[in-house]
Amino acid sequence: MSEYWSDRFAREGMIWGDQPSPTALRAREWFVEQGVQSVLVPGAGYGRNTKVFSSDFVTYGIELSGAALELAAEWDSKTQFTEGSALERQLDFRVDAVYCYDVLHLFLAEERRSLITASLEQLRPGGLLYFTSFSDEDPNNGCGRQLEQGTYEYKEGKYAHFFSDADLRTHFAGTEIIGTEVWEETLHSLQGESHKYILREIRARKK
Ligand SMILES: C[S@@+](CC[C@H](N)C(=O)[O-])C[C@H]1O[C@@H](n2cnc3c(N)ncnc32)[C@H](O)[C@@H]1O
Repeated sequence: MSEYWSDRFAREGMIWGDQPSPTALRAREWFVEQGVQSVLVPGAGYGRNTKVFSSDFVTYGIELSGAALELAAEWDSKTQFTEGSALERQLDFRVDAVYCYDVLHLFLAEERRSLITASLEQLRPGGLLYFTSFSDEDPNNGCGRQLEQGTYEYKEGKYAHFFSDADLRTHFAGTEIIGTEVWEETLHSLQGESHKYILREIRARKK
């Protein structure tokens, strides 16, 4: 996984452009309302979304790819990035909120559990979770070889898990689920290409 992303970041640079996801802006609004002071972003990439948070909150990013982190250091110097796996606890303290954009669907079931467990371990009781991932309404759902229930190798060598509402809620059982939503997102590369896909997001609170 690390090699795949590092090769892409080294080759393509800011793969998804320099604009944040609208979900990061929505998360920031919610975090401000709730008095959040610190935010963790697992799978932070090159800092496209951390930059939304780092002007208002103390922000920490965890990212596996060194190539992404080289870009991130330039793009968002206010966030404190850690190179390592978001499937394990990396911070030895707890934050007020976790925002995680399109990372959860990259993994098979056991690793998805590890990502959520590690995120909860680094979140204070009462802290907020905002996760996005592919929805089962996305056209790639069901394409290619099925690896596990809901997980497909939809492009050669690339797989993702596609979440139904019930499945996403089951992943976050044990938290207080505040709501879920389906969201159509358009990604724009710096080269002017765009790609639409359908996400499912969840907002929850750690009990
Ligand atoms: C689809 S990209 C999303 C990047 C970022 N959230 C954004 O929207 O710009 C997935 C990211 O997760 C990172 N990643 C994959 N596995 C990881 C892991 N185990 N720990 C931390 N980051 C990981 C990849 O290197 C890549 O940056």
